[in-house]
Amino acid sequence: MCDNYSLGDILRGKIDSYNIDPNSKEKINQVKLISELKPNEEVEVEGKVISKRLQKTKSDKAFLLITLVDKSQSIRAVDWYYPEENNNKIQVGDVIKVKGKTVFFENRIQINVVNDIDSIEILNPLEVNPEKYLRNSQTELIALTHKLENYISQVKNTGIKALLKSIFIENNSIREMFLTSPAAIEVHHAYPNGLIEHSLKVTELSLCLYEAYCEQDVYINRDVIIAGSLLHDIGKIEEYIITPTGIEKTEQGELMGHIPLGAKLIYEESKKIEEKIEKEDIEHIIHIILSHHGEIEYGSPVVPKTLEAMIVNFSDNIDSKIARAKENIKNTLQINENSTWSEYDRRLDRKIKIEKYTD
Ligand SMILES: [Fe+2]
Ligand SMILES: [Fe+2]
Repeated sequence: MCDNYSLGDILRGKIDSYNIDPNSKEKINQVKLISELKPNEEVEVEGKVISKRLQKTKSDKAFLLITLVDKSQSIRAVDWYYPEENNNKIQVGDVIKVKGKTVFFENRIQINVVNDIDSIEILNPLEVNPEKYLRNSQTELIALTHKLENYISQVKNTGIKALLKSIFIENNSIREMFLTSPAAIEVHHAYPNGLIEHSLKVTELSLCLYEAYCEQDVYINRDVIIAGSLLHDIGKIEEYIITPTGIEKTEQGELMGHIPLGAKLIYEESKKIEEKIEKEDIEHIIHIILSHHGEIEYGSPVVPKTLEAMIVNFSDNIDSKIARAKENIKNTLQINENSTWSEYDRRLDRKIKIEKYTD
């Protein structure tokens, strides 16, 4: 995100910050969420630090770039006055309160930190309101649970059905984690319930592809598609943890990532129903988990080598990209409802045109 701004942009934003009187506390507005900020306001913004970078201009003047997030969106703060001090003071993951002035350019609001040694305050995690950082899925969890149970009921193979029931219905701890986990920290579905929402959408898309291609010529296994789609990201229940200040990676998540964690979970769970399920079905479902990122460079140890694995990989790719593009459009419109282009998205490597149809 930071890379999309030239130094000239930052410097232009900086000019406004010289006009702030740090003692004018009565003028400072308390804002609830980052998405509620408006340009040209003196504000105190609370957010979680997700990145910080100490940099220098060509003339060797240091400045600190900080990216803050809450559940609504991210924002960049630029500190020209105490960059070294504040760089030493704050850590990535801290929740901080920043005093500054908002400036607007290139479709984005930025905070210019005021000239005050106490402009950045680190908050005690116990005093942070989790409501500010955890976003609930828009869709009702009960409806999502019904959808999940409906997909399981459609599975005809008794072994595969037993595996899905054992994981999603009988194992309370896995079920609970699957229903509440996010699917990411900030890429897509990065909110509680995001994992089940994403897994169900991937299943829906995979079944559409199955319907389009299930002619008589080559057999495609619908049951394996349902199981693979529902389980493809199951390792994320161990990869992420929800804390009062948002979503973080667990130690297991850092060390292994969700693909090996998911394969391990299926291997262990299938042991409990070994006599009911065919070994080749377990291996097929594990292959879908291992290959669902599609390419070795995207984190999969093998590429999809069955039609079912290809279908799940494509569906996963579609949902993660479309969900991200939609998020980006919503965030852009929150900043400026008249925007016609989204912000540049580093992961999608493009801006998205915002169409306004009124029918
Ligand atoms: Fe994944
Ligand atoms: Fe996924």
